Amino acid sequence: MQTALADSAALEDKDSPLWWQRDDLSYIDNELHFAGHKVQNLADECGTPSFVYSLTRAKSNLSRIHSALRKAGFTQNYRVLYAMKANRFAPLLTGLKLSGLCGIDACSPAEVELAVSCGFAPEQISFTAGSLSAEDYRVLNRFKSLNINCDSLHAIRRWGELRPGSSIGIRVNPGVGVSREGNERLQYAGKASTKFGIYREQFPEALALAKQFNLTIRRIHFHTGCGYLTAQLPQLDQVIKNCMWFVDQCQHIERVNIGGGLGVPHHATDGTLDLDAWATLLFRHFEGKPLQLDVEPGEYVMKDAGLLLLSKTYLEKKADTLFLGVDAGFNIAPEPAFYDLRFLPLALNRGAGEEHPVTVVGNINEALDVFYRDALLPDMSNATYLTLINAGAYSSSMASNHCMRGQFREYLLP
Ligand SMILES: Cc1ncc(COP(=O)(O)O)c(C=O)c1O
Repeated sequence: MQTALADSAALEDKDSPLWWQRDDLSYIDNELHFAGHKVQNLADECGTPSFVYSLTRAKSNLSRIHSALRKAGFTQNYRVLYAMKANRFAPLLTGLKLSGLCGIDACSPAEVELAVSCGFAPEQISFTAGSLSAEDYRVLNRFKSLNINCDSLHAIRRWGELRPGSSIGIRVNPGVGVSREGNERLQYAGKASTKFGIYREQFPEALALAKQFNLTIRRIHFHTGCGYLTAQLPQLDQVIKNCMWFVDQCQHIERVNIGGGLGVPHHATDGTLDLDAWATLLFRHFEGKPLQLDVEPGEYVMKDAGLLLLSKTYLEKKADTLFLGVDAGFNIAPEPAFYDLRFLPLALNRGAGEEHPVTVVGNINEALDVFYRDALLPDMSNATYLTLINAGAYSSSMASNHCMRGQFREYLLP
């Protein structure tokens, strides 16, 4: 199992081209290894394109969150709910269930059904979603002990009609967000109005509606953005301050769910999220209050626990750029194209020669089908494969069949 110490030590040298190395992902004698396997062997055995996930890494990411929260002062008064939208591979969900390290954050009725089929009890599942249809409500209503968070006045009314007298949570919008630095597309709350949660101005109406249906509001929920790192913690502090206003308006709040958003590094200069600082900040807001904390990370649990294994299709200079084509496109790993979150490509054999800038592109007829511009790679003329790191979250789960190229395989390594 990885430790927090091993993790930060590996990332100490931010300028190193090997900044991403850690003890379960590294070159050994120039051969890339992941989760105790030579990646070349994984590619030979799994075929490409394939996602390989390390359950050990996912569990150690969760354990690190638990350790930080305990160290900061939380005892039994918190839950970690894995946001399965990040990766819903059933063997992974089953492995996480068996680990006992987390419950689930689900955002569609189908996700709830899958989580339950993988062993999670409805009371271990927090559900937050918007724009629900009548059929969605019908399915959700089958799971009586699900933790439902309503994200609009409409949702409170619908839920009230379905189950008057029950307990609910409310997703709020604090008007400020926290996400990866400079990446507006990852913000769920902020200057521009968003569809996520109920704003301060509408909150009195939300309270009145809840009263009308005799609903008890037991949870305040918010999720205001994705990918925040240590430098953004002051913004998280502000988000929580703003959200405590909503807590203060209600009489029966038991839990405050701070959503996910904990980021992992994509670039050498990112550094890791200081989990101790994060947990200490949270504890300051909860200390002495009769409130339980829920946190629902997706990216932090799974992103760096997965590789995408690819085959090289061609290597060719066009104009001033050396392109390396691979046998999959942005449609099965959309974050680089959608969110400008580059997935660093790595050679499976590092060789001893010089590295050159190479632009890694996929097999889809779209201009945005670029995985990485000017990655420094060794001579790839004789390479068969290439791999992308950070492909464990929001890749397979967001995949589409664009150009009928939606096929890939998934493997869970123990
Ligand atoms: C409500 C909610 N909770 C949790 C998450 C997980 O976020 P992340 O993967 O950034 O931790 C999301 C992601 O968008 C979300 O919408």
